[in-house]
Amino acid sequence: MADEPVQAAAGTLTPDAFRRALGQFPTGVTIATAFANGRPVGMTANSFSSVSLAPPLVLWCVAKGAPSYPAFVGADAFAIHFLDAGHQELALRFAGRSERGDKFADLAFVRGATGAPILDGIAPIFECRVWARYDGGDHTILVGEVVHFIAKPHDPLLFHSGELRRIGGGRRRELPRDSFAKTYLAYLLARASQIVSGEFHAALKRWRISVAEWRVLACLADAEGLGVGELAAMALMQQPRMTKILDKMAREGLVERRADEEDRRRARVHLTAAGRTRVAPVLAAAKEHEAAILAPFTEEERVMIKHALDLLIERHGAGG
Ligand SMILES: Cc1cc2nc3c(=O)[nH]c(=O)nc-3n(C[C@H](O)[C@H](O)[C@H](O)COP(=O)(O)O)c2cc1C
Repeated sequence: MADEPVQAAAGTLTPDAFRRALGQFPTGVTIATAFANGRPVGMTANSFSSVSLAPPLVLWCVAKGAPSYPAFVGADAFAIHFLDAGHQELALRFAGRSERGDKFADLAFVRGATGAPILDGIAPIFECRVWARYDGGDHTILVGEVVHFIAKPHDPLLFHSGELRRIGGGRRRELPRDSFAKTYLAYLLARASQIVSGEFHAALKRWRISVAEWRVLACLADAEGLGVGELAAMALMQQPRMTKILDKMAREGLVERRADEEDRRRARVHLTAAGRTRVAPVLAAAKEHEAAILAPFTEEERVMIKHALDLLIERHGAGG
């Protein structure tokens, strides 16, 4: 966001400008869950607010366009989980569209006092019975009466200016606008790569896949047979290291080397059926993670970011 104040009157206000302006208000981050039609639903929500002490009421707002909207509005209870600074990956997972996969896969949860899912290892939690539903434009405001809560001091995850942050440590120190680090291309690329890949690389542990193996699997997913050199360049690795990784992956039955049909002396690396099965959920999670990373941007900004990077790679020789 530009440093200069931007003014907009009703009627000239675009939803994106409005969202960016609201983004200057820091909030905590929660996961709201409910149980509907025999299955759990959950979404990342920062619209949570306290309402009343007696009776104990809280609220959050659910978007009418969200796939899980009918489930949340139809349920008679919900639970609100406050996320802490270590829960960025979980926040992104629950900010992904539920149509793209089961957000609860491999997460432990129990049905709490109201029947709403309570995710293991997260607190504070507020378990609520729906007290009122109000129309709120493109959202419905769900007011809940708290019937049970788990309190715990914690280091909260924050949402500000379209970014997930933590108090103190995780916050970027503001550098002068024309400082070397703020304008130096290599620094910007490294920092952007840390933001885009860091959390996802941490999530790979869940599938017991190393970053190097993930790169190999992802490169081979859309390409039928690549030479080892070609694969090393695509996966940003030196060839000797790539050879070792391929040996290990071949032993695990994820890839296989087959002779090139035209030049039998050359080997081409292919994904096996087991490799395809292994990479499918990780590819889906990677796409979901990307969508969450790009969510705070307008369509024009998304195209611009990818185009600028693509241009840089193209002009300096694709394939390294
Ligand atoms: C930090 C953050 C806060 C969000 N807060 C809300 C919210 O308060 N209400 C809402 O409807 N969506 C909110 N979203 C968007 C939903 O999490 C997202 O649309 C999700 O895909 C909806 O889940 P569903 O596909 O299961 O319906 C938020 C997303 C993020 C990243």
